[in-house]
Amino acid sequence: MRAVAIAIASTLLCAGPATTQGATTATTAASSTSWRSIPTLPSDVNKGRKLLANLEDPNAKDAQRLCPGYTAINIRNCPGGLSARLVLSGANCNVYGTDIDQLDLRVLFGPESRLNVRILPAEIPEEQESWYDTNEDYLTRTVKGVHFNPTNSHFGFQLNSSPFEFSVVRKSTGDILFSTKGNKLVFENQFLEFRTELPEKYNLYGLGEVMHSIRLGNNYNRTLYATDVNDPLDENLYGSHPFYYEHRYATLEDGSKKGYAHGVYLRNLHGQDILLREKSLTWRTIGGMVDLTFYSGPTPTDVIADHVKAVGLPAMQQYWTLGFHQCRWGYYNVSDLEGVVETYRDFNIPLETIWSDIDYMDQYRDWTNDPVTYSLNAFSAFLDKIHENGQHFVPIFDAGIYIPNPNNASDAYSYYDAGIAADAYLKNPNGSLYIGAVWPGFTVFPDWSAPGTQDWWTDSFQKWHKEVEYDGIWLDMNEVSSFCVGSCGSKNITQNPVHPPFSLPGEPGNLILDYPEGFNNTNATEATSATAAIEARNSANAAKAAAVGPMSMAMPFVSQVTPGVDIRAINYPPYVINHVQNGHDLAVHAASPNATHSDGSLEYDMHNLWGHLETKATYKSLLKVFRGKRPFIISRSTAPGTGAWAGHWGGDNASKWFYMALSIPQALSFSMFGIPMFGVDTCGFNGNTDMELCARWMQLSAFFPFYRNHNVLSAIPQEAYRWAAVADASRTAMAIRYMLLPYIYTLFHHAHTAGATVMRALSWEFPDDESLVEIDRQFMLGPAIMVAPVLDQSANYTNATFPGGENEKWYDWYTHEARNGSEGKLVDLKAPLGHIPVFIRGGNVLALQHPAYTTAESRKNPWDVLVALDSEGDASGDLYLDDGESLVQEKTAFITLEATNSLLNISRKGQLTSTEALSSVTILGVSKKPNQIRFGKAKLDNWSWRESSQVLKVRGLEGVTKGGVWSKEWELSW
Ligand code: GLC
Repeated sequence: MRAVAIAIASTLLCAGPATTQGATTATTAASSTSWRSIPTLPSDVNKGRKLLANLEDPNAKDAQRLCPGYTAINIRNCPGGLSARLVLSGANCNVYGTDIDQLDLRVLFGPESRLNVRILPAEIPEEQESWYDTNEDYLTRTVKGVHFNPTNSHFGFQLNSSPFEFSVVRKSTGDILFSTKGNKLVFENQFLEFRTELPEKYNLYGLGEVMHSIRLGNNYNRTLYATDVNDPLDENLYGSHPFYYEHRYATLEDGSKKGYAHGVYLRNLHGQDILLREKSLTWRTIGGMVDLTFYSGPTPTDVIADHVKAVGLPAMQQYWTLGFHQCRWGYYNVSDLEGVVETYRDFNIPLETIWSDIDYMDQYRDWTNDPVTYSLNAFSAFLDKIHENGQHFVPIFDAGIYIPNPNNASDAYSYYDAGIAADAYLKNPNGSLYIGAVWPGFTVFPDWSAPGTQDWWTDSFQKWHKEVEYDGIWLDMNEVSSFCVGSCGSKNITQNPVHPPFSLPGEPGNLILDYPEGFNNTNATEATSATAAIEARNSANAAKAAAVGPMSMAMPFVSQVTPGVDIRAINYPPYVINHVQNGHDLAVHAASPNATHSDGSLEYDMHNLWGHLETKATYKSLLKVFRGKRPFIISRSTAPGTGAWAGHWGGDNASKWFYMALSIPQALSFSMFGIPMFGVDTCGFNGNTDMELCARWMQLSAFFPFYRNHNVLSAIPQEAYRWAAVADASRTAMAIRYMLLPYIYTLFHHAHTAGATVMRALSWEFPDDESLVEIDRQFMLGPAIMVAPVLDQSANYTNATFPGGENEKWYDWYTHEARNGSEGKLVDLKAPLGHIPVFIRGGNVLALQHPAYTTAESRKNPWDVLVALDSEGDASGDLYLDDGESLVQEKTAFITLEATNSLLNISRKGQLTSTEALSSVTILGVSKKPNQIRFGKAKLDNWSWRESSQVLKVRGLEGVTKGGVWSKEWELSW
């Protein structure tokens, strides 16, 4: 194993895909693109205009100063709410579009905890409806149909008619939660602005997707516009979730604190900026309407559950999806996949699922496989083998569909033709196909509103599954990404296939030569020679590039950006959001805003929903492919409600320590957004990882719901077996994860049925403790497990807070040693490499199953019960059991485990029985030596109690529980 580590270190000095392979897998050296003697798109195809974002323009027009605001008239109480007409209070200001003179206000009280405030143009011409109100099929409404009685509501709604202002009040405390008082509503056809006051030093969370610590700053901007980008900090990323919750703390008469949280969701997925300022939040969108939902909480957990129920409860996952997944860009052929699967087995590191990136495709075309490197025979034989071993396969699937070259008869692509026959693609405003560019060359993009799209999509997935038996689908590039501005392929498809307008990782000019962070400290000699090698290589590349000439090569590229069709400035809206892409141009690296859908709507209005709708369509397709089974999908772009069909991964992070740290708040934000199946590219995607980072990260991700290691093309390999220390660390953490799988699965059941979270912030579990507002370097997995990982290089210690005060008990996972709450203080914890501190919160009972190599094998193993008593001597827990895969279950069981007064009681509901026996019961926090232990009436002898640790261990329970520990109710007393 040491040999592996040395081999890897030395590969740092050798550049490019040919030399970056590790010792144990025979990955072929050829770059996956080297066969492609195809023209490269000129780099300027992806250059848009250089615009000044409104937020960076010191002379930007201030809508609050220039606009007249509105006056409310005809205020009426109506069943379940009130309505009013809002009329512009003065001359049009038309700051960033055209003012709408008359608006309708509709206030709808929902169930007690929910209030919906909608403001939309009074009379929208039919053809403009989609500009404002997103079709409910695309984005669910939060309050519907039924009329609720406002007197039962937790909220009061206060309206001021002139000027029109409104406030939302928590009835029980009188606290103003949201108030536009003193600020105007600006409502134009391409611009919306409203502002609420906030208390000083507010604690606000959510508003994603963005890389940031969990608590958002009080002087900070957020932009939401789905985009394909390498996880930059504080910029817009792949998904759009305009939802936040605010956490306030009141001081009670006895001096103690009480937390109150409320949530706010703007059901508007237009591009938007959100301005967080010292005492206010301003929302600015480039279209749509005000459709605000307030959730009363009062705990963050209540708020999140309410929001998640409103937008769509998360999908229940199949049990196997909770196992460990290995992926990389650069498994060049079936033998590479085979090698990885076998080597994991050789090193006895559990591997549940092997993933394929775009390498498996025939010239990067969806629903195909490379006829040579991934020949169907070899591929099928490999898939049969892993399936027999209880393992799984998930391929990537890209959003752009290759458009064949009409001048080349051998370039036929039947899946594309079927899409044409179904009229399933986005169009230009003039009705021609919208043709962008992605990995395979020029591509078209599905139009989710076209009536024929779903059937074509489903047929294609069904047909392909007959050839390649995938077990789930990984949806990528669905922001939707395009490597050129506008319909760049329209006049160029006779050039297809074309290479992207940039070098792929590993190609000249884009060699991954960086050495891991801190390598200069840990291995100065190698770092020095690596730096020299990098410099030499860079100058060689520069010389080579100069000799070859500019990238545009021989291709006569004809650019085409079709202008917008209507009175709105579609491609260049007057308000420029702070979009991360070059020049802030919305058309850069994405299908342009003027790409047109069959229902007449434009990407301008629908952009942030593309991935959401693709996920929904794919979910429906997989329902047909895997009849009766829960589809497994991981999607890059998401929106409110995507969790009902898919999980998400954190996108293209890098092999850096701070990315590992930020994966925790990123995961917590997706807990808030109702997408609990979340994980990140473990060990880091971009750049080269190293042993220490990878060891720490493999351990951290073992406690994330979705656990996958993924790596960029041509970076050094980073499978868990590449370094002895990483292998050891992974095995240790995986053993804990696999023991906890029944618990994690039960958490998913609660998420799926009630909107509960799986990964949790400490402040959600201890909502009255103000000291936790910023804690995101440790987290909880459900109510029982707290993880305090090492997130710093070269550290042998970490520190953590133990919430809950004197009366709270926390037990070390490994030693079972108890400690009390630390009263807001950070406590040092020893954590040498290979050790991840994990604690069990007193008051919980865990049903654990012995780990095995695969989840299927684990599910057949005996159980242990771990009772972690609280300071009163009580504890409880639950366990959900089903067949692990079916959408509709014939039989399930729900087990309640309750400990009190030295008695553990197991009760059950449901019909499902199982055969595995119980091996042991361990009870933590037993302060006195028991006189006797009984299982029901039977006296047991095989037990021990240790005074020093206060741990009672009862073993040898197989006999009394044979026939299945969860098939009957039982009691154990001590
Ligand atoms: C995108 C994905 C990444 C994948 C790559 C190649 O960057 O985010 O995970 O490896 O495309 O398909």
